Formats: sequence, C-alpha cells, structure tokens
Amino acid sequence: MSVSSTPVASKIIPKAARSPIDPTTIKYTSEKQKYAVAALVEEFTISTQLLNDIKDNFLEGMKKGLKKDGETIAMITSFVMGRLDGTEVGSYLALDVGGTNLRVVSVHLEGGGVINTRQTKYRIDENLKVGDAKALFDFMAVCVDNFLDEHQIVVRGDTKIELGFTFSFPVLQTAINRGTLITWTKGFNATGMVGKDPVAFLQDAFNRRHIPVRVAALVNDTVGTLLAHAYNNPETIMGVIFGTGSNGAYVEKISNIEKWKGDASADEMIINMEFGAFDKERNILPLTMFDNKMDRKSVNPNKQILEKMIAGMYLGEITRNVLLNLIDRRLLFEGHISADINQMWTFETAYMSTIEADSSPQLEETRKILESTLSFASTTLNDRQIVKCVVQLVGLRAARLGAAALAGVLEHTGAWKHKSAIGIDGSLYEYYPSFDTDIMDALVEVFGPDVRKNVAIGLAQDGSGVGAALCALLAAKNGLA
Ligand code: BGC
Repeated sequence: MSVSSTPVASKIIPKAARSPIDPTTIKYTSEKQKYAVAALVEEFTISTQLLNDIKDNFLEGMKKGLKKDGETIAMITSFVMGRLDGTEVGSYLALDVGGTNLRVVSVHLEGGGVINTRQTKYRIDENLKVGDAKALFDFMAVCVDNFLDEHQIVVRGDTKIELGFTFSFPVLQTAINRGTLITWTKGFNATGMVGKDPVAFLQDAFNRRHIPVRVAALVNDTVGTLLAHAYNNPETIMGVIFGTGSNGAYVEKISNIEKWKGDASADEMIINMEFGAFDKERNILPLTMFDNKMDRKSVNPNKQILEKMIAGMYLGEITRNVLLNLIDRRLLFEGHISADINQMWTFETAYMSTIEADSSPQLEETRKILESTLSFASTTLNDRQIVKCVVQLVGLRAARLGAAALAGVLEHTGAWKHKSAIGIDGSLYEYYPSFDTDIMDALVEVFGPDVRKNVAIGLAQDGSGVGAALCALLAAKNGLA
C-alpha cells in the first residue's frame, strides 16, 4: 500500500540523462560491421523533414476522425465536457486497468488543488489477459472488494460507493459511463469482450458479489491524465501516456467535432484520440523489418502501429530483433547467441534505460545486463558500444514519433503559440533517459524556439487514479450518470 498526500502538481524528478554514443567514434571490427551500423542509423533516424511529414499526415488523420466514426485515429468523444478548477471536494474510488498492474485507488479531493490517495496494486496474471472476459472482470471486482476490506471502507444501508473506472483501451463511448470495446491492445485479448460494454461487465461482477459499488464513469487513462493535470494547471490542453502503451487526449471545441450529435450546450469536450492506431495503412511511418517482425508475433498484428514504435511494451522487443539480426550476420558477439536473448520479450525496455544512461568508459552497466542478466558468456567493448548505439536509435525514434503526435495537436489547436500545458504520465516518460528533452527538441524543430517558452510539458503523476475520480465527480456534477 502506498499513501500520498501531495497535490498532483507536475513534479520535477531527477532522472538520468542519456549518455550519448556517437556511432562514428566506435572502433569497428570490420567494414561490414561499420556499414551495418550506418544502415541502422539511416533506417531509424527521423529527420526534421520526416517529422514534419508525419505531423502533417497525423493532422489529416485527426480531422478525418473528427468527421466520422471508424477512422484510423478514432478521435473518441469522451463525454467529459466540464472543466475543473481545483476547488472540487469529495471521496471516490478508482479502478485502473490497462497498464502493467491493476490498481485500486481511494481518492479524497480536499479542495485547493490538494488530493489524498491510497492505493493497492494487484498483478494481472497473463492467463487472465487472454482468457474469458468474465473471469477478468470477476478478478477486478474481487480486487476492489479486497481493497474495501483492507482499508476498512464500509457503507451503510443502500448507499453505494461511486467508482471511476479507468479502462485504458479503445472504447467507443456512448455515455460518460457506457461504451463498447473497439479492440484490445497491449497484450490483452480476453474473449467475448469486443463490441461489449466494459462497464456492464464490471457492474455485473460487483452486483453478483453484492459489492456496494456503482460504476459512475468510464475513463481512458489519457483523459484522466488531462483532468488530473488540469486540477493544478488550468491551462492544460492535453494528457498523454508514454508507458506500456501510448495515446493522447486533448480539449476540442465542440463546433469542430462534426460527428458529435449530442448535447452541444458546452463549448468543449475532451477527445480520446487513440493515436496509437495511427498509420494502419502504413503510408508514412518508417517501419523497419525489425518492427514488422515484432508486429507479426504480437497478439494484435497489424494494429496499433504507431503505439508499437513508441510504447514501453515494444521497444525492448524491437531492439532484441535488431541485435539478433546482427548476431546472425556474425557482426555482434562474434555470432554467439545466449539462450535468454533467443526468447521473445526478454530484452526489457527497462534495460534500455540503464544502457542509455551508462556513462562508464567500459560500459560496465551495459556489460552487467548483457552478461549477468541476459547470460552472454563474454562481451567486448565493441559489442557493448554497438548495443548502446542500437538502443539509442530505437529510444530516440520513439521520442520523436511521440513528439510528432504532440505536434499534430499543438498545430491543430494553435496551443504552441500561447501559454499552455501538457501532462504526461507513464513509465517511459518518467524513467527513460532524455525522453522528455528529446520530445521538446523535436517540437522546437517543428515550431521554432517559442514552443519551449509557451508549452509547459510536465509529469502528471497518477492521472489514471485521480483522473477517474475527477471524472466520477464531473459525471455527478453534470447529472450525467
Ligand atoms: C490504448 C489506449 C491507452 C494507451 C495508454 C493503448 O493501448 O489503446 O486506450 O490510452 O494504451 O495506456
């Protein structure tokens, strides 16, 4: 259990910076090796021109998605219309499903921008992710029940506890607490769920167990992140996740949402973009054979193409594919393989963070990962430098592609020209060396130096928990649920 009593302000956290490697300084063992690395640099580099082209293409995709349902960038109307100003008070439960862990959070909004939270994390077994959907939702209900016991939260009479449900998958919302799952992502593939309403499944699981909880709001983690960040930074226009998966939400004028047929009395609504699905058509993203190999072996081939080039779940696997290719061509580790690297998903994205930050002359941290964790018998400095170089290419490409999506929104809203804020949550943004500065550098390439002064990009911690509570509050305030 963790207890926090700090406001959800963007925090500046010390994080390692990238200790860059310049591929031209590596002492190559052969010309063949040198050319192989140069070819990788070429393939993985997103030039300023390409960055702009991707941004333009993305912008077109956003506009299409605002016109009608079923487009590649789904641009889902979240039904969240109100704005918050930090004065709101109340107690809510939040259930967060869609990242590495399931979390139950109790959120107390104290007013004055102050929020107290208590949370418990539960591990979701891999079998549950791909088994029967009912079992998965029953597990969620049991976790909430455990949490109520553990924290001695009791309700009297017929009262129900209001819960904000952060379900971080593409859900076509039909109300603030209703919707249908478009597709699973991030390694989830539970059967019998696509086209169904996750809120109905969860409420049913609560009711069958007589758990006194009512699902008041269904929230995407990006929408939650936006709301949570705005609680302390009212100029927030966008919430983003760079974590296991990747996606963004932003504030749109209702008059721009051509497909919106509902209440038009409010001026604005938060749009859950589902930008991870961008370029399903493979028109513009510079996919390599290493991306394609990973995509084919994933549980959702041909889907979430942008997400697969950006998000924490996939970066390690792309890197592993590149390393395997170099090994097979006898250009790395003298062609020797280790049993560990031969297995899919064994090269964790967290290792990339350590390797990026490794500034020791002999790359000792990199050596530990390769020799102790991944059981390579021995490595040379040349091997370690090449591994570091590959990691850097994959990591930097991810940040720049993420920036292209942010740039699409900043251009569409014009927010880069005035004071605005973007809240970002997710392990990649929080821990990956220089991910934040790489993003800002790319935005400066697109918009020029003013964007650095105008757009405050900050870490929005626990958007999924706090944001879900805020959404439940908004639903109650607006009489929506
Ligand atoms: C999902 C999004 C979610 C993102 C970040 C993606 O796989 O489709 O709904 O916001 O992951 O968690």
